[in-house]
Amino acid sequence: MSREEVRKWLHENDPLRLAELYSQADTVRKNYVGDEIHLRGLVEISNHCLQNCAYCGLRRDNVVVERYRMSDSEILECAYAAVSRGYGTIVLQSGEDYGLEPDRISCLVSRIKEETPLAVTLSLGERFPEELASWREAGADRYLLKFETSDDELYERIHPALPNRVYSRKGLLRVIKDLGYEVGSGIMIGLPGQSYDALINDLFLFCEMGLDMIGAGPFLPHPETPLGQDATYARLPEGEQVPGTEEMAYKVIALTRILCPDANIPGTTALASLNREEGRKLALQRGANVVMPNLTPGTYRRCYEIYPEKLCFHEDAEWEHAQLMQMLADLGRPPGKGSGGRRGGSCTCAAKEMLL
Ligand code: 5AD
Ligand code: SF4
Repeated sequence: MSREEVRKWLHENDPLRLAELYSQADTVRKNYVGDEIHLRGLVEISNHCLQNCAYCGLRRDNVVVERYRMSDSEILECAYAAVSRGYGTIVLQSGEDYGLEPDRISCLVSRIKEETPLAVTLSLGERFPEELASWREAGADRYLLKFETSDDELYERIHPALPNRVYSRKGLLRVIKDLGYEVGSGIMIGLPGQSYDALINDLFLFCEMGLDMIGAGPFLPHPETPLGQDATYARLPEGEQVPGTEEMAYKVIALTRILCPDANIPGTTALASLNREEGRKLALQRGANVVMPNLTPGTYRRCYEIYPEKLCFHEDAEWEHAQLMQMLADLGRPPGKGSGGRRGGSCTCAAKEMLL
């Protein structure tokens, strides 16, 4: 698909024409990655963060949020819960928290790998290459780090620089790939200042990077952040600014599937938070093949407030699991067997080279 075709779809509003796009994405999804829906249990192990991203409720300057760090036994308990529910992967996510000592993470990863059949995905922010290498050695399979936007100017504007950073986020993704991790990345849709051209670049960058997993969810303003407090911050004039709507999120998921046919694509929690009833289901019918149910214990999950009214605030893991199983049954699609990774998975496409 050409850039101009992608642009045309991003501006399309006719429901009948959009139904064609969604149906094409669903066919590509079926042909390349099959019907299985991979379930990846998300554990938000710490909400401490030294970064100050202008959009995120966990940013350093937000003094309102109550901070926590889970213990090893609490995390391992979540891993066992993931196994008992039949999930193939556990995702350990946190803010950029140097209070999570690298050796502790290595030990946790080794234990999970020794004691369970789970694939381990880490999503712990921009960490030093040596740390990333030691976690890979301990057995971690995948790393998630969103590049958020390919527009370098916009990126700089909403990510205050930290001292002593040698790698750009995109550079770090290259390091992660070279360490042998499967790499997940992605963007936010409708970030203030995001133009259609920038979004089109994001979509083509996904393919160039040969990503294993691509997450794209709508930007949701958080009141304790600069982007949530000032609706005009970085915003482009009407018509140039990409809206962070539910429909735009479906279009981006569908286009991502068509452009990167063999990638794993989640129906994101941010999208499900915009439409609690149908968000994930519609995403899975429009190109997505992954869901990340939240396994974070109830006492902590309210504190992991990257944006307000996150889906899981009102639910517990048991309830969400039952809902998901019902949804899979309604869709007539089976839960994935194994870890659902691209390495050794069912995909027959030649691996694409990362062109960072
Ligand atoms: N709206 C939507 N997504 C957000 N994220 C952080 N803040 C927001 C927000 N306000 C996403 C980013 C980040 C991940 C941890 O959560 O994509 O990578
Ligand atoms: Fe921290 Fe990630 Fe939020 Fe940025 S997006 S403030 S790095 S948790």
